[in-house]
Amino acid sequence: MSSTPFQQAVTVAITGASGALYGLKILDLLRQRGDTEIHLVVSSSGWLTIASESDLSKETIEAKAHVVHSPKQVGNCIASGSFPSLGMIIAPCSMHTLAAVAHGLSDNLIARAADVTLKERRRLVLMPRETPLNLAHLRNMVAVTEMGGIVMPPVPALYQRPDTIDALVTHTAQHAIELLGLPNVGRTVWQGLGSKA
Ligand SMILES: Cc1cc2nc3c(=O)[nH]c(=O)nc-3n(C[C@H](O)[C@H](O)[C@H](O)COP(=O)(O)O)c2cc1C
Repeated sequence: MSSTPFQQAVTVAITGASGALYGLKILDLLRQRGDTEIHLVVSSSGWLTIASESDLSKETIEAKAHVVHSPKQVGNCIASGSFPSLGMIIAPCSMHTLAAVAHGLSDNLIARAADVTLKERRRLVLMPRETPLNLAHLRNMVAVTEMGGIVMPPVPALYQRPDTIDALVTHTAQHAIELLGLPNVGRTVWQGLGSKA
């Protein structure tokens, strides 16, 4: 972490699967905390999905982070276990990046940072998005889980009755941040159905 007042650093990667809004919401929620240094990496396909799902400019998105890395910069700080990161979220996570993480292929900074996160036994939360799933996708999710990663498909919590896409996305983004080990992000707590007398 750079010499800043932050209590922890977190890496957020956005890859080329549908669901860029999840990654963008995670950036906003982490930024609101004020105590977390945000490192952002967006894959080239991630920029394509962002463009198809959001009107935000590249500059606006990059301004949500404190440090922006190119996926080609495999020598940057988050590529090393010596960098004191709390963990990493890949949201959304394409099947390509899922496969790279599952097989330890570190040919770009996203896969390398995920590899380092796993080897240092830190929290890695993947939000894979594809449907339906083939056997390779399923096996890769098992492999990542066996290595200690947390596979969290962005399945909406419809029991919360979200009335907007933003509410739906926010609830899932808050959950992902909690899985990283950062509590108190405002996720609505289910109060139960209650008992009938
Ligand atoms: C508009 C668009 C939507 C896509 N949606 C998905 C998707 O939902 N899931 C997926 O695994 N790949 C999806 N892809 C394909 C990936 O972007 C592609 O496999 C790419 O190589 C992933 O690279 P990355 O992991 O480096 O981002 C999509 C591609 C585009 C252009």
